[in-house]
Amino acid sequence: MTALLTIQGLDIRAGDKPLVSGLSLSIRPGERIGLIGESGSGKSMTAMAATGLLPTSIRVTGSIELDGQQVVGAPDKTMNRLRGAAAAVVFQEPLTALDPLMKIGRQIAEPVRRRLEREGGKVSKDAISREVRDLIDKVALPQPERIINSYPHEVSGGQRQRVAIAMALACRPKLLIADEPTTALDVTTQAEILKLLDQLVRETGMALLFISHDLPVVSQVVERVIVLKNGVAVEEGAVNTVFGNPQHVYTRSLVEAARLFDEALGATGS
Ligand SMILES: Nc1ncnc2c1ncn2[C@@H]1O[C@H](COP(=O)(O)OP(=O)(O)OP(=O)(O)O)[C@@H](O)[C@H]1O
Ligand SMILES: [Mg+2]
Repeated sequence: MTALLTIQGLDIRAGDKPLVSGLSLSIRPGERIGLIGESGSGKSMTAMAATGLLPTSIRVTGSIELDGQQVVGAPDKTMNRLRGAAAAVVFQEPLTALDPLMKIGRQIAEPVRRRLEREGGKVSKDAISREVRDLIDKVALPQPERIINSYPHEVSGGQRQRVAIAMALACRPKLLIADEPTTALDVTTQAEILKLLDQLVRETGMALLFISHDLPVVSQVVERVIVLKNGVAVEEGAVNTVFGNPQHVYTRSLVEAARLFDEALGATGS
C-alpha cells in the first residue's frame, strides 16, 4: 500500500545548528506510529516540517511526501490544500491553537465549512451546525449548548483539548498528528483524552503520528515507535519489542525512567 507520509533523509537546521538529521520514516494509511524522545530531541520540528509549518528561518532539506505531494519547498497553495485533508495536527497546549476571541461553536464550524466546500457538497448553515453538534458528541463534551456558546477560557483544559480534537476531526484528515496532546493535562484527564483519541483513530481508520516523551502513554496508542535523540533516530520497531527489549542505551534509559516512575507511583499508592 502506498504510504501516506514518507520522510526520507530529513535534515532540519537553524543556522548551522542541526535540529534533525537524516530522519526517515513512513506511515501507511491507518497505521499508528509513535515518535518519542526527550525534550528538545526534534519531535515537534519533525511534525511542523511534515505539515509545512516551520518558519522560513529554519532550513529543511530531504524529502517529505504527504499524500503523494512533496512538502519540502512546496508553495503555500499546495500546503493549504494538504492541511486538514491530508493531515491535521493537535498540539500540546490547545489554547495556542484556539482563537481566544471566538466562541467554540464558531471555531469548530470553520474547519467543517472548509471540508464541506472541499467535498463540493451543499454548505448550508444547518448542515454545518448539525455537524458541529455531532463532533461535540463524538469528543464527549458535556453541555453542548453551553460549550458552543463559550469562549476557550470559559472551559477546562481537558475540554479545550476535546475541542481541538473535534476541530482536527472536522477536517476528516487521512493522518492525525498529535504532538504531546495530553502533556498539559492532569493524569485523570490525560487518560480520558488518550482513550478518546485511541477510540476515534480506530473508528475512523485515520493514520496517527503520536508524539510524546512519555513511554507508557505512547505504548497505549501506537503499533510502532521511532526513538529520537538529538534529532537522530536511534531505534525503531514494534512497541512491544522496543519497550520490552530496548537495544539502544538511550531507549534503555527511557524505559528504565518510566519503570522507576511507575514504581514510585505504586509506592505512594496513587
Ligand atoms: N524557531 C527555532 N529556531 C531555532 N531553534 C529552534 C526553534 N524552535 C525549536 N528550536 C530548537 O530545536 C530543537 C528541537 O526542538 P523541538 O521543539 O522539536 O523539540 P521536542 O522534541 O518537540 O521537545 P519537547 O518534548 O520539549 O516538545 C531544540 O533544541 C529547540 O531549542
Ligand atoms: Mg515538542
